[in-house]
Formats: sequence, C-alpha cells, structure tokens
Amino acid sequence: MKHVPVLLTETLKYLNVSRFRERDGVFVDATFGGGGHSMAILDQTGQGLRLIAIDRDRAASQRAISLSQRYGERFTLLQGNFADLSQLLDEVQVKGIDALLLDLGLSSYQLSNAPRGFSFQLDGPLDMRMDQGQESSAADIIRTGTVDQLRDIFRRFGEEPYAGSIARAIVAARSQKTITTTRELADLILSLTPPAKSHRRLHTATRVFQALRIAVNEELQALVAVLEAGLSCLNQGGRLVVISYHSLEDRIVKRMFRQWSASCSCPPDFPVCTCGKVPQVRRLTGKVVVPQVDEIERNPRSRSAKL
Ligand SMILES: C[S@@+](CC[C@H](N)C(=O)[O-])C[C@H]1O[C@@H](n2cnc3c(N)ncnc32)[C@H](O)[C@@H]1O
Repeated sequence: MKHVPVLLTETLKYLNVSRFRERDGVFVDATFGGGGHSMAILDQTGQGLRLIAIDRDRAASQRAISLSQRYGERFTLLQGNFADLSQLLDEVQVKGIDALLLDLGLSSYQLSNAPRGFSFQLDGPLDMRMDQGQESSAADIIRTGTVDQLRDIFRRFGEEPYAGSIARAIVAARSQKTITTTRELADLILSLTPPAKSHRRLHTATRVFQALRIAVNEELQALVAVLEAGLSCLNQGGRLVVISYHSLEDRIVKRMFRQWSASCSCPPDFPVCTCGKVPQVRRLTGKVVVPQVDEIERNPRSRSAKL
C-alpha cells in the first residue's frame, strides 16, 4: 500500500520551503518513510538545497533508491534513530540545519505489512520493531513482562482503562501457550469484551497494540531526545515542524514548544521577573494545524494528524 504524505501543503509552508528556491540550505526529514515529504521538498527547492533523510526502518533504503537517482548528491538517506540526530549529522559533516521535519508514527508500508506485526487486523509475528536490527520485540515483552509491567505499558502508552485485566489475562494465557502472533494477542484481547460491544473491543485492541509499539521502540524517549537535539542543531531562523498522531506525542511536543517559547520561567507569584530567560523559539502556529475535510476523505489515515 502506497504511503500518502499527510498535511503536505501545510508542511511545506511551515518549513519555509519557498525561501530555498534560490538559496543554499540543509533540511532534515527525520522520518523518511515512503519519501513523500522528502520528494516534495526537493522538487520545490533549488540545486543548493541538500536534504538529509533519516529512518530507523532498514526497508526505507529500497524506497530511497529512486530519490538518489533523481536528486543525486542533493539527497542522502541515513539509517538510524532520530534520537541520535547530532551523531547522525556528524557522520555526514553537517553542522547546522535550516529545517527539521518529524512526521511521527508508522508509514502505510509498515502498517500494511503483516510480517512486521504492527497491525492487529493482519496476522503476523508479534514483532513491531521499527529497526529490524533491534533485539527486543513485542513478543519478548508479552513473553517476559510481569502483570505490573504489562499493566503499566498498557496504561501509560495506551491510556487503556482495562490495562490490569488485560495484563492478568495475558500472563494467565501464556502459562498455557506462548503468545507469538498478532492474531493470538488480538483474539485474547477481543475475548475479554462482550461481542455486543464490538466498537469498544476494537478500541481496546488499537490501544494495546499502540502501547506495545511505543514500548518496543521507546518512541516517547526518542521524541524528547530529537526535539532537544533538533533545537540545538537548527540555524538562526530555522524551522521545526512536527506532525503527531496521538495525544501522548502531542503533549510532549506542546510542552516543549511552550517551554522554549516562554519569555519567563519565574514562579507565577513572583512580582517581577528575575530569571532573565529569553524565548528560544517563536511559535508559528497559534493553534495546531489539522487536515481539511477533503484531505481526510482522500486519506483517512490523516484524520488524527496534528501539525
Ligand atoms: C509516518 S511515517 C513518515 C512518512 C513520510 N513522511 C512520507 O511522506 O512518506 C514515519 C516514519 O518514521 C520512521 N520513524 C519513526 N520513529 C523513528 C525514529 N525514532 N527514528 C527514525 N525513524 C523513525 C518510521 O520507521 C516511519 O518510516
């Protein structure tokens, strides 16, 4: 299944792409995926714009071949975790960047590929690793996690109200038979809710799978790390654009933008400012930007996106 880039027009606008038709610059697309955003950036900028793309997924290199052929030295793909942004940029001798794009989550290639184990609607191994070279997978967490650990994962990363009963059911079920596939885990979760409440059953499975994926890939730690590194790599006037797909990511992004753009960090009851803090960034969007109705109709995957 082809991946359709989300909020493309809005992303190009906030990345200030048009400014680089004539001038040199370096952009980083730290979530290359299918390369939809990368390609649009390269198409709408001049020969002096270099794009460094990053993806944890080793399969991304296949999709990067056509971009290398088309854009030559303007385009470089690095395999790695965006949490290591500074080290990855050191590898290619890049000091400062003019824009950083993070389009978080999974691509349609990953979601629709049953052997990757991301979807509870497709039967595959319980894998969920974005980086296939990583050791620990979702099956390892399900096989070794204690009730407390599993409950904590489902609660913190899935905000799942039935986290405790699901964790207990998993530990009881695996004492009979090891849970190794997405179908086995999905069936177990679905069996805990009455069939009449089919809507709730699907939401529960979605939340548990999301929670496991976040835990396997340590996604929230990586997000905090790349935001911190990104701020220190950006040149004066540089742009940072983040597209998030669920409330946990969204909260982290909002909190960090709020901190960076604040002009004072004194306690609210201080009569005068003594901290001397100056804002590090200017927020360009008052409110988050969400897709228009026609984009959601064309690409339902975009419905939860927030830029
Ligand atoms: C939503 S897709 C990006 C789609 C892309 N913008 C496009 O238009 O084709 C997110 C991609 O980011 C990658 N990714 C997620 N977390 C990452 C991380 N910590 N480091 C590097 N890549 C990551 C995923 O493997 C996935 O390919």
